[in-house]
Amino acid sequence: MGRGYFITGTDTGVGKTIVAGGLAALYKSRGLDVGVMKPVATGCKRVNDTLLSDDAVFLKRAAESDDEYELINPVSLEQPFAPTVAARLSDTKIDLEKIRMDYDSLCERHGYLIVEGIGGLLVPIDEYYFVVDLANEMELPLIVVCRPNLGTINHTLLTVSYAREHGLDVKGIIMNESTEKCDDVLKKTNADEIKRLTNLPLLGMIPFDKRLDVNRFDKEALLKIFRDNVDKDIII
Ligand SMILES: Nc1ncnc2c1ncn2[C@@H]1O[C@H](COP(=O)(O)OP(=O)(O)OP(=O)(O)O)[C@@H](O)[C@H]1O
Ligand SMILES: [Mg+2]
Repeated sequence: MGRGYFITGTDTGVGKTIVAGGLAALYKSRGLDVGVMKPVATGCKRVNDTLLSDDAVFLKRAAESDDEYELINPVSLEQPFAPTVAARLSDTKIDLEKIRMDYDSLCERHGYLIVEGIGGLLVPIDEYYFVVDLANEMELPLIVVCRPNLGTINHTLLTVSYAREHGLDVKGIIMNESTEKCDDVLKKTNADEIKRLTNLPLLGMIPFDKRLDVNRFDKEALLKIFRDNVDKDIII
């Protein structure tokens, strides 16, 4: 098993980038050599003829990584759709071999790696190849990022049970208030139910905070919020 984490979510937009970036910043602040990766990104922006992913740029800054952008984000697609769909629309095929080679290079360079998945575990990357398969190949323990509000028990339990059925080593859950402040009782009781039913630790409870913005990197705020709200033993 590699060192670091594969960060998945119960859905798109739940806060995988914020969590992956927050963890990378924590590793870095402890003087650890951490690399980051966003293997496939869609909805990328064209800048001087290069497609850039906001997620990959955020992760690179959070980890203060000197790695080439192309290693961190080997597959960048323009259309903001699922990877297979975005690839089809731009008449390309996602190059899994390139992802594997770039991942191996990053593993050789760094003691720890934080990889952000794409959407949730059953997002297709190739015809019958899903995010769960990529996570399995990367052999990193999994963290599941979930929402605090109503509906999260179902989504989180489905994700955890699917991950376990497919042999992934699920380390724990991070609950993130990505949209707005959630009612405290709802948040606390949902977290307790998820812990009870999965037998997993809640590794963090990230509050809603406007300074956590993927498009406006605020290193000081990111680090402070993660120091204050995630389990100290998360860094392994
Ligand atoms: N705790 C938070 N407080 C305030 N805003 C947040 C918080 N967490 C996430 N956000 C914002 O919510 C949006 C979604 O978060 P994020 O991009 O991390 O989700 P994601 O799971 O990585 O999405 P994707 O599937 O697109 O990669 C972003 O604009 C981010 O800045
Ligand atoms: Mg993201």
